Amino acid sequence: MDHEQLIAAAEGFAKEQLGRDTTGHDWFHTDRVRNTAALIAGMEGADVLVCTIAALLHDVADEKLNDSKEAGLQKVAGWLEEHLEDAGQTGHIMQIIGTMSFSGGGGAPMSTLEGQCVQDADRLDALGAIGIARTMVFSGAKGRPVYDPQEAPRDESLRKEYRDYSKGTAVNHFYEKLLKLKDLMNTSYGRKLAEERHDFMLLYLEQFYKEWNQGSRKPL
Ligand code: ADP
Ligand code: NI
Repeated sequence: MDHEQLIAAAEGFAKEQLGRDTTGHDWFHTDRVRNTAALIAGMEGADVLVCTIAALLHDVADEKLNDSKEAGLQKVAGWLEEHLEDAGQTGHIMQIIGTMSFSGGGGAPMSTLEGQCVQDADRLDALGAIGIARTMVFSGAKGRPVYDPQEAPRDESLRKEYRDYSKGTAVNHFYEKLLKLKDLMNTSYGRKLAEERHDFMLLYLEQFYKEWNQGSRKPL
């Protein structure tokens, strides 16, 4: 199997596995992560093939789509053993997928450059306009409110504390996770991409509070 055939096979497998998912791990998320991972890999001098396959399969093992994390990882390992001749590559890709936090947040540090590229690409998809959309959809699917002024102080310094209260609104998710991701980026190119998305989220929040306050004004 040449590289192109291998990538096409991995795409097919990921599409088939993720097709019906509505928890934020749909095929389009995977496709963006795959393309961004390849872009970062190119800039950082990482192995683009390993990054592409790992990115394509990174959510297939998610426990939301499987009976358990172990069962999910086993499924991916089986596929790789069947399709890759190089056991070293299979081991590397499994190590990346196994280390990647399934919740996209903290997680163990990535030990290889390829793992760092894929993790950065996954984190980038939680940021910016797309990240905001995914957060709103995820919150809605869980039946959570967009925002609750009772729970969030408007004062900037207090808002930093607020993130630790974790009341479960969509806006709270910005503070508990999304705004922390920029400083967790592994690669310098990934960080550069994260900065624009981070700044856009800050702008979004500023506008959100502005409109909220305008809408909350008592009628004259
Ligand atoms: P990934 O590993 O791809 O980051 P997650 O399952 O952690 O996937 O999250 C999927 C999407 O849902 C992400 O965009 C994430 O920011 C969002 N999300 C995760 N947890 C929450 C939450 N508690 N409230 C709102 N959005 C969330
Ligand atoms: Ni993901």
